[in-house]
Amino acid sequence: MKEFDFGIVGLGVMGRNLLLNMADHKFSVAGLDLDPEKAASLEKEASEEHTIKGTTSAEEFCGLIRKPRAIMLLVPAGKPVDSAIASLLPYLEEGDVLVDGGNSYFPDTNRRVDELAEKGIHFFGMGISGGEKGARFGPSMMPGGNAEAYERLRPIFEAVAAKVNDEPCVTYLGKGSAGNYVKMVHNGIEYAIMQLIAEVYDLLKRGYGVEDAKIQQLFEKWNNSELASFLVEITAGILKKEDEVTGKGILLNYISDAAKAKGTGKWTSQNAMDIQAPIPAINAAVEMRDISKYKEERVQASKSLKWKDVSETSEEEIFADLTDAFYFAMINIYAQGLAQLTIASKEYDYGLNLEEVAKIWRGGCIIRAACLEDFRQAYSKSPELPNLLLDETLGKALEEKQAAARKVVKTFIDKGIPASVFTSTVSYFDSYRSEILPTNLIQAQRDFFGAHKYERNDKEGIFHTEWN
Ligand code: 6PG
Repeated sequence: MKEFDFGIVGLGVMGRNLLLNMADHKFSVAGLDLDPEKAASLEKEASEEHTIKGTTSAEEFCGLIRKPRAIMLLVPAGKPVDSAIASLLPYLEEGDVLVDGGNSYFPDTNRRVDELAEKGIHFFGMGISGGEKGARFGPSMMPGGNAEAYERLRPIFEAVAAKVNDEPCVTYLGKGSAGNYVKMVHNGIEYAIMQLIAEVYDLLKRGYGVEDAKIQQLFEKWNNSELASFLVEITAGILKKEDEVTGKGILLNYISDAAKAKGTGKWTSQNAMDIQAPIPAINAAVEMRDISKYKEERVQASKSLKWKDVSETSEEEIFADLTDAFYFAMINIYAQGLAQLTIASKEYDYGLNLEEVAKIWRGGCIIRAACLEDFRQAYSKSPELPNLLLDETLGKALEEKQAAARKVVKTFIDKGIPASVFTSTVSYFDSYRSEILPTNLIQAQRDFFGAHKYERNDKEGIFHTEWN
């Protein structure tokens, strides 16, 4: 009987596409789904070169796969992952490798790793980025788990991942939930860059009344510059998609402005607070989606809380500055997310290699961008770099571009256009480059009202003062 190289549980769009991607690369893959239609239709999609088989039986599925088995779950995060594991468990054996390919919450992964380790089964949490197309033709994949067990997965993952300069956008990241954590922060960065782009669009459209077509051209131009990135590219595409329903103008103008979120951005912020990793731009992006939900209140406030524009900056001037300002903000966002990874790696003992993270984010994923290669080089030069802002080359670029960022932020404020992410990147930059912060006053206040004590900057020790 034919032994299959790999198994996929969950034949929704992601599972099916990844399975077909593996089959394209000559791996034989079995698929399991409780829905008989999904299981049956899989084989119909196969071409002659593909070796694939769909089934609804966990027992048959596990019997098909070469031992030690390598199986990936592509089911929604949360309970479905535990149910899928439970359905497979009776047929699994010591040494088998299970990979959760969803956006699972990293503490859940830690729990599953421990539970399955008791049975000798290796459990991996792996973030997959790139959406449906990525899964089909080359995603960026972020696996974490047992290093030795990764060898069972490596050839398949390296074959199907996106490639940049022939290098696959997948690597073993670290133990336990390292992969899910890296993907979570990837999504936090994704939120902030998306919001940053939205703020640029808002300033131009509402602040200056620039036509959609002209904004579209700006993003198109950016995508052929050092700002080249997947999110800028798709924004240029979105801004030229006509509305087919009305036939009048672009579809974007008819889309409701109440943003939704599945939770990965929120987790990034929540955990950053736990481990004291400052990521103000990502926090601001999460909160902007929250503010967007209060539509009725915003409509009401828009009628009462008026502002008269006193801005003196011309459209031409801002157009020129926006390019440098965007670069400045973008680098500050990645710096925050990557610094969070550095802090988390110590906190959770992941052993992350930031050069490798930058490398696998260069292609396939949603936050892929030309600047990721610069980040890779920065970490290659200094693997222990605590923050990209301390890299000499990037630091110089930021120093040069900060004037534009400051001007643009002032314009946002003058015009009354919200720019939570943009402004927070400038404040972050200014906090990070401040030798002295006013937090001595916070310490004094704490000691004043709560006798919380303080340290002095001129001698060792812990002090308390009777302030009254
Ligand atoms: C990716 C994306 C993806 C994410 C969606 C929706 O890397 O392919 O990050 O994993 O789930 O984009 O995320 P939100 O619903 O939270 O915006």
